Amino acid sequence: MATTERGSELRTPSAPLPPGATPISKKRGFRAWLNQRMPIDEFVADQLTGYYAPKNFNFWYFFGSLAGLVLVLQLVTGIFLAMFYKPSAAHAFDSVQFIMREVDWGWLIRYMHSTGASAFFIVVYLHMFRGLMYGSYRQPRELLWVIGMLVYLALMAEAFMGYVLPWGNMSFWGAQVIVNIFGTVPAIGPGLVQWIRGDYGIADATLNRFFALHVAAVPLILLLLVMLHLVALRRNGSNNPDGVEIKDHTGADGKPLDGIPFHPYYTVKDIFGVGVFFIIFALIVFYAPTVHGLFLEQPNFEPANVLSTPAEIHPVWYFTPYYAILRAVPNKAMGALLMLLALVSLLVLPWLDRSPVKSIRYKGWISRVMLAVFAISFIGLGYLGLQPAEGVYVIFARIFAVCYFAFFWLMPFYSRIDRVKPVPERVVYHAH
Ligand code: HEM
Repeated sequence: MATTERGSELRTPSAPLPPGATPISKKRGFRAWLNQRMPIDEFVADQLTGYYAPKNFNFWYFFGSLAGLVLVLQLVTGIFLAMFYKPSAAHAFDSVQFIMREVDWGWLIRYMHSTGASAFFIVVYLHMFRGLMYGSYRQPRELLWVIGMLVYLALMAEAFMGYVLPWGNMSFWGAQVIVNIFGTVPAIGPGLVQWIRGDYGIADATLNRFFALHVAAVPLILLLLVMLHLVALRRNGSNNPDGVEIKDHTGADGKPLDGIPFHPYYTVKDIFGVGVFFIIFALIVFYAPTVHGLFLEQPNFEPANVLSTPAEIHPVWYFTPYYAILRAVPNKAMGALLMLLALVSLLVLPWLDRSPVKSIRYKGWISRVMLAVFAISFIGLGYLGLQPAEGVYVIFARIFAVCYFAFFWLMPFYSRIDRVKPVPERVVYHAH
């Protein structure tokens, strides 16, 4: 075999390649050099230009990539915050004030991180709702949905522990209430609460472990889960607003007839989404970072004080639907169980839907009404979780909680008897 010094000319053109080997590019230059050492072009060809996604993606398909963007944003701003934050009960609150007032651009980094937390949940809730509408959780994407739910649970843990770190008064009392929920576990409850706190109350030890989990353990788990989420997505490809499988109709080249290359078509579409997202994000960060006490709550502008309970203790808005369910029943253990069931209901959704069609476009009126009832209940519960648990608020919380569970647990029945519309063979797409 004729060889020269250059890696690109190591093999003569006539020499047969060993089975399974990839031909080495004969091009020169940095790109060729890189490709001889890492399959960059192959990756792009496999995963971007050669990956065909349904051509009828709509508005609702912006939120997966946006969730990825917010994840990166949180990791980057979080790293910079960690450079100045001090995880001790004595210094945490002051160190956050120092970041806000003294550190160059500290206020921006902190507001980006606190706004990013809420943005994450807005984006993820819209992302999940899209799945509910188009039946993206249905076979063969059940595992994709379940991994998504694990991402959601990890995100909740991450957000909860992050909220405790500034050691404001709501951080402190919120942690008190949420950690005490674990006390309702039969037999081991009280021991479990103490084990989580690492002390007899929410204290320095709690703050230290929450910091370690928030900056290292949970982000790693999140990244791993998101990677698995994308691997599972790639296995069967995306669903679409019609809920028909594009892989069922392929052309002579083996590519789906109703698919278009992810790059450049959807990369460009996603960049547009990123632009709109950043405009809204910047408006909040620069003009209304507290969003009237919704993203950053008023009691958290005061340091944690064991002697001063905030007038109303509640978690941040993205947890309040579950918090309202928790408080809808007088029995604490029962409330905690219902809260758990609310999450489990979402997890097992792929096995509750018995409709012969996937997308809401072709489902009947019962499924449409139930989905609307679910959305209204979820938002309603979110509102009620921010109000005091008394009078009419509790009554409405009970009504909405019943509606929430009815959506899931009556689904095996109504999804079967609901009259569906005929599903088209191929996706429906009208060019704009
Ligand atoms: C950090 C959070 C998350 C990230 C970064 C993420 C990322 C993505 C991306 C990039 C896609 C493909 C693009 C798209 O369909 O919009 C996708 C699809 C999907 N995700 Fe997520 N996701 C996250 C959380 C979740 C959660 C919490 C769920 C639900 C429990 C979920 C369920 C799904 C489903 C069912 C699909 C397929 C949708 C379809 O093809 O119609 N994801 N995800």
